[in-house]
Amino acid sequence: MDHQLLRYEKLAEDLSGIIVAGNIRPGERLPSVRRLSRERRLSVSTVLQALRHLEDKGLVEARPQSGYFVRHAAARREPPTARSTPDEAVPVDVSQRLMRVLQSGMQPGVAPLAAALPDAALMPVAALRRLYGGVARRHPRLLEGASHINMDEPALIRQLVLRSVGWAGPLAASEFVITNSCTEALGLCLRAVTQPGDTVAVESPAYYLMLQLIETLGLKALEIPTDPRNGMSIEALDLATRDGRIAACLLVPNASNPLGSVMPDENKRRLAKLTADRGVALIEDDIYGDLHFAGERPRPIKAFDRVGNVMLCSSFSKCLSPALRIGFVAAGRYRSQVALQKTITSGATNPVTQMVLAEYLESSAYQRHMRGLRRTYEQQVDAMIASVARHFPATTRITQPQGGFVLWVELPEEIDTSALHGRAVAAGVAYVPGELFSASGMYRNCLRLNCGNPHTPQIEDAVRRLGALMAPSALPPAAA
Ligand SMILES: Cc1ncc(COP(=O)(O)O)c(C=O)c1O
Repeated sequence: MDHQLLRYEKLAEDLSGIIVAGNIRPGERLPSVRRLSRERRLSVSTVLQALRHLEDKGLVEARPQSGYFVRHAAARREPPTARSTPDEAVPVDVSQRLMRVLQSGMQPGVAPLAAALPDAALMPVAALRRLYGGVARRHPRLLEGASHINMDEPALIRQLVLRSVGWAGPLAASEFVITNSCTEALGLCLRAVTQPGDTVAVESPAYYLMLQLIETLGLKALEIPTDPRNGMSIEALDLATRDGRIAACLLVPNASNPLGSVMPDENKRRLAKLTADRGVALIEDDIYGDLHFAGERPRPIKAFDRVGNVMLCSSFSKCLSPALRIGFVAAGRYRSQVALQKTITSGATNPVTQMVLAEYLESSAYQRHMRGLRRTYEQQVDAMIASVARHFPATTRITQPQGGFVLWVELPEEIDTSALHGRAVAAGVAYVPGELFSASGMYRNCLRLNCGNPHTPQIEDAVRRLGALMAPSALPPAAA
């Protein structure tokens, strides 16, 4: 999607930044329409369009004869705080419940706030469609060759190496394995470095797919306290790895799912060293690294890896299309084990799709698309924050994601989001209950919302209906 900011959008974005940063506080008046029009050299109707846009996002309200005021719901909400976690590793049992939750969220008529999927209209589908036709015509060998091993396209690996120059070091072409999605990459890495019964350290809350992988491979999960701004606690990991009982550490350091945290560089450096020193293989999922909201692309932990101990996994599911099913891992010194796992799992990765991706990454369209997409996701996340602040109980805590497009919400203790889930789906709203992000059943009063879709009036209404189910009068007697 090529997204040039319109003038009203630029003004709305600037004003929204000032409000969210707390420079104009809830209840205070915005500069007048006339003044904005004069100082920004915009027509009155453009200024009004910007203000209406902010009104739709729930940040400001118009008061007749008085102007526009910052709404109280626009105030920054307290983020959730990191929780302490059990000392012991535990087997995981979330998969069956998770599958039911994700399937119920895909029913027609249910607002898509469960799975972390972007709206198809945000993806460059037309360009990809054209490339598929062109690639199949121009490279007939891709459909003719057949092999179960080493079908990684050098053209794609070259693009992946080039992309990494600015933020990772760059990565070496020789350490890549192209995979069918990030999910596959994570599974291959885990299988390459663990045996059934081993313990894997994960964030708490953790992306549920990681818990599912741990569950199905017969591993145990050790939850490490994780801060909503700075990510996994290095101190806690340090303590946990002292007795050598952890085989691998699996985490999302950039715009984590579900917290949206970005680990500071210094922590990444410490984590790379700690895990290397202790013989703990580190698997990092960088799928949201390019979807940062701050100016600079955050670096992966891999950028601080001196000994090849970090396996960096990612895919293009969140920025080009989840349907491509194409991802990769830069596997460092584990590359040959990972490549073997790839061969026995799925052979090779579709060569036509690899070339389509290589050609898309080569074009300038990719950078343009990413610039627009980052802004769009940020606006959608902002709109969801404002909407949750409007409709959920007053003491609700909300994350301030630093990238990606999911939001983590902590509700009052008495609200059990697993118990509420069936009623929410019946009311036409899906979400993922918090306990599915924990091996030990923590976070029953939390939930995750997908903000991958434009914040339409239908989505706003879905959030309102969900909030209504949390009102004391709507809760079962024991909880109310
Ligand atoms: C952190 C994280 N990793 C991996 C995935 C899955 O990616 P893929 O579609 O490439 O398997 C997701 C999707 O929700 C995700 O949030």
